[in-house]
Order: sequence, then structure tokens, then C-alpha cells
Amino acid sequence: MQQVKAVVALERGKPVEVVTINVPDPGPGEAVVKVQACGVCHTDLHYREGGINDDFPFLLGHEAAGIVEAVGPDVTGVAPGDFVVLNWRAVCGECRACKRGDLQYCFNTHNATQRMTLEDGTELSPALGIGAFAEKTLVAAGQCTKVDPSARPAAAGLLGCGVMAGIGAAINTGAVRRGRSVAVIGCGGVGVAAIAGSALVGASPIIAVDIDAKKLETARRMGATHTVDSSQTDPVEEIKRICATVYDGADGADVVVEAVGRPETWKQAFYARDLAGTVVLVGVPTPDMKIPDLPLIDVFGRGGALKSSWYGDCLPSRDFPMLVDLYLQGRLDLDAFVSEEIGIGDVEAAFERMHGGDVLRSVVVL
Ligand code: APR
Ligand code: ZN
Ligand code: ZN
Repeated sequence: MQQVKAVVALERGKPVEVVTINVPDPGPGEAVVKVQACGVCHTDLHYREGGINDDFPFLLGHEAAGIVEAVGPDVTGVAPGDFVVLNWRAVCGECRACKRGDLQYCFNTHNATQRMTLEDGTELSPALGIGAFAEKTLVAAGQCTKVDPSARPAAAGLLGCGVMAGIGAAINTGAVRRGRSVAVIGCGGVGVAAIAGSALVGASPIIAVDIDAKKLETARRMGATHTVDSSQTDPVEEIKRICATVYDGADGADVVVEAVGRPETWKQAFYARDLAGTVVLVGVPTPDMKIPDLPLIDVFGRGGALKSSWYGDCLPSRDFPMLVDLYLQGRLDLDAFVSEEIGIGDVEAAFERMHGGDVLRSVVVL
């Protein structure tokens, strides 16, 4: 067991605190990782607000990269010294989803068996089974994905959640590729990642939609070919118009990614796609949200696919090393997602800045 500093949400709605926690030595199937960088994600704030569940205290942080320090006796996949990106999809290989070959839907993903605790022994709930706003964290060995160690930790770590969710929503769930048109509604970290992913695979046009002009500038820098300010312009009409100028006869985008998580933007996505196109919902709605007045005949008559994307349908072992390589080749600008590097004591201030619109990701560097 060792003691390290970490960011903990002790009570619902209260500011997070930096406290000392106990990290057990790794047991069978586990690894202790020395965290180098961890991005601040909306989900951390949701945990702090009690919006995910009530299992306080939470050890926050889950978009992280670091160096494996120690592994449990039976661990063979990673070894001390490996540079890894942490994931929250360590697949079990045995559930129904895994057995039928849909590993990205694994119903029984692995986390560490032992619990990290406060100094008084109170068990912590690690955010998404990771808990990486900490100098060191205990995870399941399968949550450690080895990637090229020459990558900058602050950039590589972002693949652990939001950036992977966005890229994967486009290229895994939406099957975006060259020759396909894409529209992305909502250009925060996730939406901009969907745009970067679409650019990476050669899609065109790539239409960014947001109600915030600053977000549209960022979207353009990250590969959007067109931008639509939907506080000023009807996005459905505008997406159809742009697609028709590129592809004769097009009546919308082949794939529309919804990266806000609201009924009205999902409806825009639904009507902005071409016949037999695909809608990908990667934004996370709240339980009270509903889609009223959607004629079933429109669902039938427009054909295609209405999909949701959990974690970008990623397989960390397949996607993280590939995306890190593309980053190192200069083909995927992960650095552009790192708006600022902050200290472990600055997480609460970073939560405040999330709403300001200037920050894609604040990243705690340790
Ligand atoms: N129309 C268009 N864009 C909108 C609208 C709207 N009605 N409402 C909000 N937006 C934009 C915001 O201006 C912002 O740019 O959506 C973006 C949301 O971005 P962030 O708040 O930074 O969130 P992000 O981290 O990108 O996550 C987006 O995906 O994984 C989920 O939980 C996450 O639901 C969230 C979504
Ligand atoms: Zn499984
Ligand atoms: Zn996240």
C-alpha cells in the first residue's frame, strides 16, 4: 500500500478537494499506474453533482496516460515501465456480447478488484472505474493500453474518453469514410473530435453546427469544411443545401453525429440526414428527455440507421495505438484538444471554465 495525493468529491455538489488516499499494491489482474496527465471531462462534474449515482466519495479523473509502476502476479499484458492510456472498456471475453463478437458492447468490463480508500479507510468510487486525478491509481491490467511512449501524455490521455468517443462516433459507429458527407451538431470536445475523425478518413463535406461562434472557429481549424451557426440559421435546411452543392441530388448528409445530447438537436440530426443515412447519438441525454411528435412514418420512410455510440464503439487495444501513431505522424492533431495544462489543485477551477466556451480540454499534468 502507498499514499498519494488525489482529487476527491467527498459530498454531493461540494467543491472537490485534494486529499491523501491509500493505493493498494496490485493483486491478481491489477496494475498500479503512475499518472502523468488526466483530462477534465463533463462526466467528472456529473459525478461531483451526484448525477451518476450516490456512491460518494468519488475519486475523479478518467482520461489519463501514465507509466505502469507495478503489476499483480498473474499479469502478462503490461509490465512496469510501459507507457499506457487508461480505458474504461477492459473487455471480459466471456459475456454474451463478447461471445457473439461485439466486444465494444461488453456487458462486464473489468475494473480493479481491490478498492482505493481515504486515509481513514473509507472506500473510494473511482470515476468510470479509473480515478486518475491522482499521482497513482489502481486499475485492472486490461484497462492499461500500451501506446508509443514518444506521445505527449496530456494529448494521448485524451483518447481515454471524450476524444475517442467523438472520433469513434464518426468512424466506428457512423462508418464515415471518403466519399461520405458528414454533419456534426455540437462542437465541444466530443463533436470536434468527430470532425477530426471525419477529416482523418477523408470525408467531405464536413459540416460543423453549433450555437456558439467560437466553437465553430475551432471546428474549422480541426477539419470542418463548412460551419453553420444554428442560433442564426436553420441547420437542417443549411446542411441539405451544402450537401446538394457537393453531391448532385443529395438531400442531407450521409451521416449526422449528434454531440449535444438533447431532443431538439437529435431531431435536427434526424431530418438533416439524406434518405437511408445514419444518425449517431454520442451526446448523453438526461433521463427526463423525450422525442415528442416524431411521426413513425418518418422513421420508416427515411430508412437508414438511428444509432447511439457508447465510447465511440471503441476497442482500446485496436484504436488507441492506431490513433497515437496517426498523432505522431502529424495526421491527427491531439495537441489541439489540450487547451491548457493545469495542476492537481485546479480541477474545480477547470469545472468552472467548462461552461465558458474557450476550453476543449483542461488537462491535469502530474
Ligand atoms: N445546438 C447546437 N449546439 C449546441 C446546442 C444546440 N441547441 N446546445 C449546445 N450546443 C453546443 C455547445 O455550444 C457546445 O459547443 O454543444 C457543445 C457541447 O460541448 P461540451 O459542453 O464541451 O461537451 P462535450 O465534452 O463535447 O460533450 C458533448 O457528448 O459525451 C457526451 O456527455 C457528453 O453530452 C455530452 C456530449
Ligand atoms: Zn464481455
Ligand atoms: Zn469522460
